[in-house]
Amino acid sequence: MWFWRNLHRQGPVRVITIATQKGGTGKSTLAVNLAAGLALEGHRTLLIDADPQANSTYVLTGDQLLQPSLYEVMVTNSATLPEVAVSCRLALDLCPSNILLSAADIVLSSVPGRERILSRKLRALTGYDFVIIDTPPSLGILTVNALVASGEVLVPVGMSTFALIGLGLLEDTINQIKENLDIENLHILGAVGTFHDRTNVARNTMAALEERFGSILFKTMIPRTVKLEEANNRLKTIYEYEPNGAGAQAFQALVQEVMTHGQE
Ligand SMILES: Nc1ncnc2c1ncn2[C@@H]1O[C@H](COP(=O)(O)OP(=O)(O)OP(=O)(O)O)[C@@H](O)[C@H]1O
Ligand SMILES: [Mg+2]
Repeated sequence: MWFWRNLHRQGPVRVITIATQKGGTGKSTLAVNLAAGLALEGHRTLLIDADPQANSTYVLTGDQLLQPSLYEVMVTNSATLPEVAVSCRLALDLCPSNILLSAADIVLSSVPGRERILSRKLRALTGYDFVIIDTPPSLGILTVNALVASGEVLVPVGMSTFALIGLGLLEDTINQIKENLDIENLHILGAVGTFHDRTNVARNTMAALEERFGSILFKTMIPRTVKLEEANNRLKTIYEYEPNGAGAQAFQALVQEVMTHGQE
């Protein structure tokens, strides 16, 4: 059903933005390993790094100053997504970020229709089953462009005392974007618990998350494990770094959940 429903859509079949306003919740780690996991399942996947910090770009390529990048696509309008996309792994391409993108908010502030630049670029894109977008921990023009261009938002929630604040803010923002820009088909695909461990704080945060967002909470939780930190540090996906460890198993389960959510 899902396949036929999407067959005649313009652009890639599913566009998923990873976003929260809170920093350090595991967005980039999630973006890299979700995109890599989907590619390992045989889905042609493009990871767009829309964060000027270029963390996903760095993990996948070892370089954070690649040019051309999303800057040329969105800000100078001098390149298309296929022109800047680099092949990183089998079935996995990356549209790199660059620190230049940190000027986007100022440079684009007077451009009419600036919230829809990425959406327009994605509509012309073919050949991908999934596009995953990594965003900065703020709601500037880059995150708004990612949300407007997406059908779905995946929200990582770190197990910390202040975790739920970012989630509430993001929900408000999505509703505002839907109202102000007249976009109906954007929805929260789900919240994913990250940095999960056996502490009381994690238990309390999960309980609060289940109470407030139970219906959209993914069954899979990403464990806090130094192997994920090390994989990022060694410029590897978790499947390459420790394929049988808890981190890889959690990400494989999450990939399956993301794939089945889309078929409902
Ligand atoms: N499950 C995990 N267990 C242990 N360390 C992790 C885990 N996930 C991410 N990390 C590490 O925690 C730090 C923050 O993760 P990450 O960069 O993915 O978060 P982020 O939300 O993208 O941050 P930012 O808001 O700055 O973009 C990184 O050093 C990363 O390697
Ligand atoms: Mg990040």
